[in-house]
Amino acid sequence: MQFSDRLANIKPSATLTINAKALELKAQGIDVTSLAVGEPNFSTPEHVRDAAKRAIDEGFTRYTAVPGISALREAIAEYFRRSYGVEVTPDCTIASNGGKQSLYNLFLALLNPGDEVLVPAPYWVSYPAMIYLNEGVPVPVKATAAAGFKLTVEQLEAARTPKTKILLFNSPSNPTGALYSEEERDAIVRWALDRGLFIIADEIYDQLVYDPHKPLSLVGWWKQYPDRIAIINGLAKSFAMTGWRVGYTVAHPDLIKKLSQITGQTTANICSISQKAAVAALTGPYDCVESMRLAFQKRRDMAWQELASWPGVACPKPEGAFYLFADISALYNDAMPDATAVCTRLLSEAKVAAVPGDAFGAPEGLRFSYAVADDVLMDALERVRKVLIGK
Ligand SMILES: Cc1ncc(COP(=O)(O)O)c(C=O)c1O
Repeated sequence: MQFSDRLANIKPSATLTINAKALELKAQGIDVTSLAVGEPNFSTPEHVRDAAKRAIDEGFTRYTAVPGISALREAIAEYFRRSYGVEVTPDCTIASNGGKQSLYNLFLALLNPGDEVLVPAPYWVSYPAMIYLNEGVPVPVKATAAAGFKLTVEQLEAARTPKTKILLFNSPSNPTGALYSEEERDAIVRWALDRGLFIIADEIYDQLVYDPHKPLSLVGWWKQYPDRIAIINGLAKSFAMTGWRVGYTVAHPDLIKKLSQITGQTTANICSISQKAAVAALTGPYDCVESMRLAFQKRRDMAWQELASWPGVACPKPEGAFYLFADISALYNDAMPDATAVCTRLLSEAKVAAVPGDAFGAPEGLRFSYAVADDVLMDALERVRKVLIGK
């Protein structure tokens, strides 16, 4: 068959591929632990599930307004008021089918063929694919383990060209868990605004930051520069709602109108029932978010202490999200020459699925997700240690 040229650069998601292999082994009765996917192992909070059940029972099952019901757009605005003390009006919001759709539609709305997007690496696997699909050019800018996987303005400036249009900013980061301080972030934001760039802030992990850090959002900057910044977020990670597919964008009303047009002609509104659930989540108690955050923090501490003690492994302490990214290139040898070979061996010998860094633009490392139960996590890491360093 003849497929569109647009698909030429699109590879299957490495995260999902490795997870599929793990599931295959599980189906054969082999006990495999997947540290490959980015999905909290908690249930969606009860009051959120109840709101969805009520929506079904009350027949709230029809098309809704494309950008979301007013109650949801109000609830998104309230989230920013409550979390960051910043006033956002509902006309600056649009609900999306997960943070993924928010990002995809932003690239569709903003990119012309050949426009470049600065993508800090290690990056989330889907960014380059989304940029290619919208005929843009992803320009990875590499941050090292030694620098805590964070970039400086100088590195970004060196990667900028006359075609650079957008800076993607993801903090806390998937796959590294790196969290920029307010000062580090502000220096980058000022630089991007001074150079005339548009900033897309992916804040999907904003609530999952560990003590003593507090959630940080670009919403204050967005208030000052509403037509230069867009923020994406969603409920998947902080409210354990991956399957409900609720994300959102905060942007200038003119951009929201364009996003709404795209959404209207492609997917239309997100699931009506999920919208009611999202209203309950965003306007309800946040103690569920806090208890999940504390559970992740405990796992981060345990898993990081283990990994950081391994000779030849460089793993900066992640300050957010639920991933550890370890530079293991010092351990590469003839038997395990690269990250993919290491992951294949981990799967067959340790029965643990991790994701090779190539998928994140960082072939020197591996990503482990710690969104699994404490004992499962530590047991899996012990098996990984035996394969990687032999004891
Ligand atoms: C960095 C980052 N952004 C966005 C998303 C999209 O999340 P969702 O579409 O499930 O809301 C993910 C999911 O893994 C992510 O890791």
